[in-house]
Amino acid sequence: MKANEGRVVVVSNRLPVTVEHGPQRLHVEPSAGGLVTALRPLLDDSAGVWIGWVDSEPSPEIERVLEEYSARRNFTLKPIFLTPEEKSRFYCGFSNEVLWPLFHDLQSRCNFDPTYWDAHLAVNERFAEMAATEAQSGDLVWVHDYHLMSVAASLRRLEVNQRLSYFHHIPFPGPDIFEKLPWREEILTALLDFDVVGFQTVRDRRNFIACLRHFVKAAEIKTEEDHVIVDEPGRRTVVGAYPISIDFNEFARGASDEAVSMRAREITYDLNGCTMLLGVDRLDYTKGIPERLSAFRHFLETHSELHGKITLVQVVVPSREDIPKYVELKSEIQRMVSEINGQFGEPGWVPIHYIHRSLDRPELLAYYRAADVALVTPLKDGMNLVCKEYCAARVNNDGVLVLSEFAGAAFQLHSGALLVNPYHTRAVAEAIRRACDMPLAEKRKRMRRLRARVRSEDIFRWRDSFCSSAATGPLQIAKPPFEQRLPRRVSA
Ligand code: ADP
Ligand code: F6P
Repeated sequence: MKANEGRVVVVSNRLPVTVEHGPQRLHVEPSAGGLVTALRPLLDDSAGVWIGWVDSEPSPEIERVLEEYSARRNFTLKPIFLTPEEKSRFYCGFSNEVLWPLFHDLQSRCNFDPTYWDAHLAVNERFAEMAATEAQSGDLVWVHDYHLMSVAASLRRLEVNQRLSYFHHIPFPGPDIFEKLPWREEILTALLDFDVVGFQTVRDRRNFIACLRHFVKAAEIKTEEDHVIVDEPGRRTVVGAYPISIDFNEFARGASDEAVSMRAREITYDLNGCTMLLGVDRLDYTKGIPERLSAFRHFLETHSELHGKITLVQVVVPSREDIPKYVELKSEIQRMVSEINGQFGEPGWVPIHYIHRSLDRPELLAYYRAADVALVTPLKDGMNLVCKEYCAARVNNDGVLVLSEFAGAAFQLHSGALLVNPYHTRAVAEAIRRACDMPLAEKRKRMRRLRARVRSEDIFRWRDSFCSSAATGPLQIAKPPFEQRLPRRVSA
């Protein structure tokens, strides 16, 4: 990664690799999710350190496997191990039962257990201690995602004077939703301890600024060209929008590979020539999978002439399986798939093929190549990389993208995709019909537009634009401890 003259110290909840127990020995696999897909191509590009959690019991063997992995790269992986209680309260609890649902506008799913907040602070402190140990003068400390919003506050307490940057991968809610968070002032104030704070979209940046106006009255806010400057006595933070992306060329090259093309033909053949709709998601309630299945059911109910001619392939990668809402979601999806297949299936035709596992890159690309239509319909998403991957993989400039208007990616891809409200069952069913009927010339026109946008705004452009803000942004030095600054905050 390139940011400035120094190295980059990446701090994220998870390391980019997960250590798995093989039959003989431990081995590493890429971790699931958008953050890792996005940042991995940057890893090989320059020197640095990546600090993150390994979801395993600490052991010298794990440390050795990670050291071996690091030795083959420019980047050194530094594992953080959490106790079972820390995992439960910090990761499952505060991160994924408070911040995740609230920031995706699903406040009724939140569990505001106060012990989760204590764990959030304690674990952020541990990440900060490791970052303080690793960061050298001139390094950029680059913290990622909602789990670690309080890391800069801890680093300031530890008197770390490097530039501190933060990128927020998920949506940031407006004040009417954010105000439910019992620790709202603390989180906003902690974010202002970073020199640079980046969001996925202008909408998220606007929401963050609106929350500051409500809950941090001492903040002075000025808009300058494409970013916002937030001043408080003794400190300044630059706030910007930087839409994350993928390594377009890597996906396009991979998709053109002969073995991938052959596998794509095999998939098409196995579906007996049916038009193929594809969903690819982490198994998460924000991805709108039950809502998508309802829309497909409605489509089948209203288009009996297409029975036997259209198939939905839904691929999900298991995620956050220790959290009850995710366990419930898994059962709900399985139930809906079997109901729909039971109601409409016929000998020789299965309406929905459900794949519940992680696919390796060539297999994933083959599915993208084979799919006539991608259904990317999250209820809310910071960005969503699946839709960008689908476009990059459509090397023949065809295929139709049906995209939720609530995905961050809709800001960039609205002119080529068919935008839908994922809650509107009939509208999604109608978009499926429109995608199936679309003339080839229109498909090509739209897909060329989509691919041009993803190609030009790729992950390297994201890194360069974020890092140039980070390299030139203000450098806040040795701020007073958080507790001393609290009385200046005024609640709305
Ligand atoms: P999130 O960050 O919420 O996980 P994104 O859409 O941004 O959502 O990123 C998801 C990433 O996970 C993408 O890179 C996608 O290719 C990958 N992915 C999702 N499902 C699977 C699967 N079943 N097998 C392999 N990769 C998957
Ligand atoms: O972007 C959302 C995010 O939390 C990322 O940090 C991560 O890539 C992905 O979802 C997977 O989540 P988890 O690390 O909880 O499995």
